[in-house]
Order: sequence, then structure tokens, then C-alpha cells
Amino acid sequence: MATMSATAALGNLINLHHRHLKSATFPSAHSFPCTNTSAAAGKVIPRISCSSAATAASAVQAQPASDASPDRVFNFAAGPATLPVNVLRKAQDELVDWRGSGMSVMEMSHRGKEFLSIIQKAEADLRALLNVPEDYAVLFLQGGATTQFAAVPLNVCSPEDAVDYIVTGSWGDKAFKEVAKYCKPNLIWTGKPNKFTTIPNFDAIEQSLHAKCLHICANETIHGVEFKNYPTPRNPSAFLVADMSSNFCSKPVDVTKFGIIYAGAQKNVGPSGVTIVIIRKDLIGNAQEKTPVMLDYKIHSDNNSLYNTPPCYGIYMCGLVFEDLLAQGGLVEVEKKNRKKAEILYDAIDSSNGFYKCPVEKSVRSLMNVPFTLCEPELEGEFIKKAAAEKMVQLKGHRSVGGMRASIYNAMPLAGVEKLVAFMKDFMAKHG
Ligand SMILES: Cc1ncc(COP(=O)(O)O)c(C=O)c1O
Repeated sequence: MATMSATAALGNLINLHHRHLKSATFPSAHSFPCTNTSAAAGKVIPRISCSSAATAASAVQAQPASDASPDRVFNFAAGPATLPVNVLRKAQDELVDWRGSGMSVMEMSHRGKEFLSIIQKAEADLRALLNVPEDYAVLFLQGGATTQFAAVPLNVCSPEDAVDYIVTGSWGDKAFKEVAKYCKPNLIWTGKPNKFTTIPNFDAIEQSLHAKCLHICANETIHGVEFKNYPTPRNPSAFLVADMSSNFCSKPVDVTKFGIIYAGAQKNVGPSGVTIVIIRKDLIGNAQEKTPVMLDYKIHSDNNSLYNTPPCYGIYMCGLVFEDLLAQGGLVEVEKKNRKKAEILYDAIDSSNGFYKCPVEKSVRSLMNVPFTLCEPELEGEFIKKAAAEKMVQLKGHRSVGGMRASIYNAMPLAGVEKLVAFMKDFMAKHG
């Protein structure tokens, strides 16, 4: 008699459970508890109503233009980073009793109908935001983007496969170093000689003919360089892989240009602990045999990100952020706001006659992470201290590059950047 492994049996059970729930109904994360009587089962089953931008708008209250919360600072940290105040307030309102369920999201079974409605809505809203096609899976995982440095090659490459890496900063460099354990990477371009201040001209790069994929870091959080368009892999059967940790959901992205997108949530879309992977479905199911079960995309995809206990509260928070982004009008509107914030900050730097300097080439400057230096490095300590005294915190540059860095993710209000710019001008007037 054929025997089934415990894992396969568990997987089947979960799939069965999912199919049942899907064909029955899920509660809406908005409307829970919504009662629909299932005649067949004679039970009260909450009704499914997964995401829509319209309903999303009603759930998280739009952020008022000036959300004067006297105790809040303007937090320019690179991640974990500032979250929208309206989202935090919504979470606060629901902390002890989530929508009449009598429990906190932190206390819920991840297989209960309440949490299923939360994760499904989060996925549906993310799909709506990024226009993710049906032939792509969306996974909510753990382990940070760092884990994906290994998970990507383990899932899509054999140990003999070649892969191409364009390295435009520290994170791409880390990904490149990790991948060498699992296949045969080629460093086809590195910005290291120029201190990671630019993005190469794609035509000038020689890609490997047989590379399985081409990896980039779409936004380098430490160095502040951001791809404004994307290279096409030379091998027609290869695909593009992007670490989008620090510009995820900051602007519209054509997902179809990528085989895999991955991102840690803790910069633009939630707290740390959640890693999002968007992957073309035909790339799933080819993991190397030694791949740990927790890194196998097929396991997570077959189980709708519920193979083991997921980071439930983090996923819930991401869901609230997705609702908020939809309520703002989606990523087109979000990008407009991000452009405006970045523009006034870079303008302040560029018009300071060298008092402040941003080393990054203008055409590839990040909308999210703005590194800058002071003409007199000994003033940097005072700058950071005085800014903190005025409730602008976490402006110190990464320890590997020094200087200053202002991370101005989606949730940083324009008022925060305006205040920083006014402070910079004032500081310059006193010391320039
Ligand atoms: C672009 C980028 N990739 C990867 C990482 C690593 O992410 P994690 O700490 O979630 O593993 C970071 C963290 O800051 C990052 O900014």
C-alpha cells in the first residue's frame, strides 16, 4: 500500500481545508463578523468579500493633513521605519477585540476564519495595488530579505546553474555573496569602484548567455541608488529577480517584467517579521533537494502561506497598510507624494553651495533613502543631536558609509520632510 509522508499528509489536509473554506466562504476582514446561513451545512458561515479598493477606503481612516500627535517624532529610520499614524490608530482600536471577535489578532489561530479573512484580504489588496497577474503567487514568509538571498537560488537553480548579479550597493553585494553557496554566480557589474553611486547603462553590461536569472537590488537602502528602469535578461528563458525591500509599494511596478520580487516589509508596508515574495507560478516547484522546507516556495504556495504559523500580527499590519495605500488612490498617487518629498530634500542639498552633498548620480537617486554629507564632517554630530532635539530622529547614515541618511518612505509625511529642510537651512545659516 502506498504510504504518504507526514508532510504530504499535512499538506493535503491543509489544501483540503483551504478548498473547503474557499468553496464555502471567508469572512471579510472589513465586515467580520458577517453572517450568512449556509443551508447545506446548517451553520452560520461568514461571507467572503475579499478586497476591493472601494471597501478598503472605508476601513482605515484617511490620514488627516496634519496629524498633530505631540508625542510622535519624525522618524527617518531606514527600517524598521515609520508607519502611517492612521494605521497605528486603527490597530490600536482593534488591539484587544478584533472586529467583534472577542480577541486580538495576536491571539487568533492562524487557521481560524478570522485570520484567514485577514491574510486573504491582505493578499488581494496587495494584488490590487501592484496589479499582480493571476499567474503570479504572493507569499507571506519569514526570515527577512536576507533569507531570500539563499531561497531564490535554492528554488530556481541547480548547483551548476549560472546566475548573473548586478551589484549597485551593499545589499546586492550581500545577496551575491550568499548565492555562491548554492549555484554559480557571475558578478557582471559592480558599483564598488565608484562607491556605489550609480546604476550602469544596461547595454554596456555583458550578461552571461546561459544565466538562469539576473538579480538586482531595485533600491539600495544604504547607498541611496534606485533603478529607474530595469534590465532585460539576455538569455530569453532567463528572468529578472529583484530585491525590492526598500522601495516596495512606493510606486507602480510592472510585475510581469520580473520572475521574482521579494521584500522585507519593515520599510514601506509593515513591521519587521514579514517577507513578501511575488513569484511567477511556473518558477515554483524546482527546489534543490536539500532546500529546507521553510525555504521551499512550493510548500508555501501550496499552503497559501500557512504551512506553519505565519507572522500573523505582522501580516495583519501589512494588510492595514495596503488598505491605506489603496485609500490614498493606489501607487500612482503614492509615487506622486514620494516624488514631491524627495524633490524638496534633494533641492535643499543641491542648492546649499556644497554645504550639504549627496554623492549619488542625479538620475538614479532614490526616492526612499537620501544619503548626504556635511562639508565639515565634524558638524555631523551636532546636526544629528540638534535634529533629534527637534523631534527628527534616526538621521545618522549607515555605519558603513557615515554621513547622514534620511529615509523618507511612504509613511513619512510631507510635513516631516519640510521640517527637515527648514532645519537644514537654519543649520546652514548658523554654520555656513
Ligand atoms: C534592500 C535590502 N535588502 C535586504 C535587506 C535585509 O533585510 P532583512 O533585515 O529583512 O533580512 C535590507 C535591510 O535593510 C535592505 O534594505
